[in-house]
Amino acid sequence: MVTISSRLKPLMQRGCDFLGSKVAVMGGAMSWISERNLVAAISNAGGFGVLACGSMPPDLLRAEIKATRELTRAPFGVNLITMHPQIDELIDVCLEENVGHIVLAGGVPSTLAVKRVKDGGAKLICFAPALALGKRMIRNGADALVIEGMEAGGHIGPISTTVLAQEILPELHELVPVFVAGGIGRGEAIVSHLEMGASGVQIGTLFVCANECVAHADFKKAFIRAAARDAVPTPQLDPRFPVIPVRAIVNEGTNHFLQKQREVIAKFDAGELTKEQAQLEIEHFWAGALRRAVIDGDVANGSLMAGQIVGVVKDERPALAILTELVRQAEQALLHREL
Ligand SMILES: Cc1cc2nc3c(=O)[nH]c(=O)nc-3n(C[C@H](O)[C@H](O)[C@H](O)COP(=O)(O)O)c2cc1C
Repeated sequence: MVTISSRLKPLMQRGCDFLGSKVAVMGGAMSWISERNLVAAISNAGGFGVLACGSMPPDLLRAEIKATRELTRAPFGVNLITMHPQIDELIDVCLEENVGHIVLAGGVPSTLAVKRVKDGGAKLICFAPALALGKRMIRNGADALVIEGMEAGGHIGPISTTVLAQEILPELHELVPVFVAGGIGRGEAIVSHLEMGASGVQIGTLFVCANECVAHADFKKAFIRAAARDAVPTPQLDPRFPVIPVRAIVNEGTNHFLQKQREVIAKFDAGELTKEQAQLEIEHFWAGALRRAVIDGDVANGSLMAGQIVGVVKDERPALAILTELVRQAEQALLHREL
């Protein structure tokens, strides 16, 4: 388990107290990837693992929480997607299983969902993609915020981590703990966010190549080979048909998606499809694509969701080694300032 020195401790204390972990580093929930093994490995290493519920039904989530508990006695959280049709049942499962921290992702959570989490006694963590939304989440009851920049892997907003941090940290860090996510791959970067008022950070991409991560070997190889510039937002061909931006490593699937958009738009222009039908066809293209890449290893056609920091991922190593390295770099950066 990683421990932090008296140099780093004051900067991470609030985040550690909030999470109940030794290091204020959250393992960002990644669908299909953040299951029992990776989550337990991150929490056992001293970080704070977060299970990704994704599209799991309540029974599966309960089983996954129980299985994670078999692997770790350290605290971990659960990430739920707000538009999941069974969100209320999923919250109840977390509460019944005594999950201490629930992350509500994928949009502004309903007041009902917030109330359910809070009444159940869990700590609520929300994503704040802008200052105004961050303020609103705190007013609505969020106990902590994650601010995630567009460098991140997976679904992204339009603003970079650096800008979000400067916009949000000075205004909100005194109100609730704020964790910064997106593009974090070295301890020095963690220190700079902590010094601006962050209570900790959230990291996804860097943990994909942890030994304990169950992702297919070819998925990990794609991460090890990729440069920062390979992880790009989903291309959108026509503003009439908006595409939800997801940052992923470019592959043949990316080109097929462009082709698909071209075909669908041509059919729409020819009057063969309604606007709704065309939009739906575009949206359905990536359905199940992350699973295909992560679990089946179809790295050509599946979705290789990854952040720009994928460029620094050079090998597979234990989660403990990843976290140890980050803390060592952070400690080193602070030591240099004293010299
Ligand atoms: C493959 C992958 C899948 C992800 N899935 C989810 C998810 O299901 N829910 C979520 O809230 N965030 C998801 N994320 C975002 C991460 O939780 C985390 O915030 C992000 O990876 C941080 O940025 P980084 O990739 O630069 O470290 C995903 C990210 C990746 C790379």
